Amino acid sequence: MVHPKLSVRGATSPASPIRRLMPHADFARSRGVHVHHLNIGQPDLPTVSTMRAAYQRFAEPVVAYSPSQGFAEYREALAGYYNGLGAAAGGPAINADQILVTTGGSEALLFAIATACDPGDSILVVEPYYTNYRGFAHMLGVEVVPVTSFASEGFSIPAERVRAAIRARTRALVVPTPGNPTGAVLTHEALAALGAVCREHGLFFIVDEVYREFVYPEDGDLPEVAPSVLGLPDLTQHAIVIDSVSKRYSACGARVGCLVTRNAYFYAACLRFAQARLSPPTVDQHAAMAALETPAAEMRGMIDEYRRRRDLLVDGLRAIPGVSCPTPRGAFYLVADLPVDDAEAFCTFLLREFSLEGETVMMAPAEGFYATPGKGRNQVRIAYVLGRERLARCLTILRAGLAAYAARPRSAARSI
Ligand SMILES: Cc1ncc(COP(=O)(O)O)c(C=O)c1O
Repeated sequence: MVHPKLSVRGATSPASPIRRLMPHADFARSRGVHVHHLNIGQPDLPTVSTMRAAYQRFAEPVVAYSPSQGFAEYREALAGYYNGLGAAAGGPAINADQILVTTGGSEALLFAIATACDPGDSILVVEPYYTNYRGFAHMLGVEVVPVTSFASEGFSIPAERVRAAIRARTRALVVPTPGNPTGAVLTHEALAALGAVCREHGLFFIVDEVYREFVYPEDGDLPEVAPSVLGLPDLTQHAIVIDSVSKRYSACGARVGCLVTRNAYFYAACLRFAQARLSPPTVDQHAAMAALETPAAEMRGMIDEYRRRRDLLVDGLRAIPGVSCPTPRGAFYLVADLPVDDAEAFCTFLLREFSLEGETVMMAPAEGFYATPGKGRNQVRIAYVLGRERLARCLTILRAGLAAYAARPRSAARSI
């Protein structure tokens, strides 16, 4: 018998740093410890009422394919959403034929990178980055070139640093705003500065706006909704928006997203990829279309809740000796510096060796969110997708865990 061989691409595809510690969490559970998950961006808030009602209403006798680009009515409604947001205020209005409905924002990212790059090309990503950018690039034989952002600079992205990282085969800059994992929000001016670099060097500017509504302005220093790259009139050929209903409507399992671009050639190429996978989800598109009618007060309630959680978490973290973090301005994540040399060893310790009254916390070590070796070693990403009472409990557990880790016997330290 001759064993079939995995592709190098398959065998070397990077494991998700968010899920890598799962076996340790299973171990914690097996020793009877309750694990609070701060490591995964699965919102706990109820899916918006409009979507839940639409799922109940669905009564077609056949769950059929939809058009590869998504239902026309849904794309029309989405165009109304983008134009109503003012996202397209700076440029020509968005129309339905510039919107491609995808299976989550994830597929939109895959199509966008595949359309921008050939194998051997590279994309620029700002580290710490959303790790699936690297996963998709790897799948496509595309190299990820990191541009480092720093907590001390509020994880801002200086255009000059981006320019300096461009190489001969760089084809696109991929940026989330609001950011995962940093919570940083790009102002209109910051977007324009990055856009200018993309124009100058002929790069696609792939802007991941899936957290657009989750913004926390102070005294009007940011708009209520994160500025969109669609509002930059001179980027019509460069700008690609990645979007999703997952976070906005607390509906990660719906698997509906979209890609928006005014570049007709880019759109046509993405559509050919979309035709190969036939169709985005049918029932979920009905629900996603209903989501656009969600009452403003319901959306506001969700955003305000995340803001209260952020405040509780940031204040609580900063009150723990040696812990620091910039205030995230959007999304529901933050990156915190911990007083440890190796955050992965500490997170493992919390799961395997520690508990406070039968409870512990699971966080994502941030090293896996960086491409530069050694970066983020003392950092963790925390997602604030738990209620405030539980978050407060997590802070107590973290404080006790850090104290226990600092006081642990040397032999235990070696065995971690
Ligand atoms: C920044 C960012 N982009 C895209 C996605 C993809 O989400 P989905 O495929 O559920 O739309 C996520 C999910 O966590 C994300 O955080």
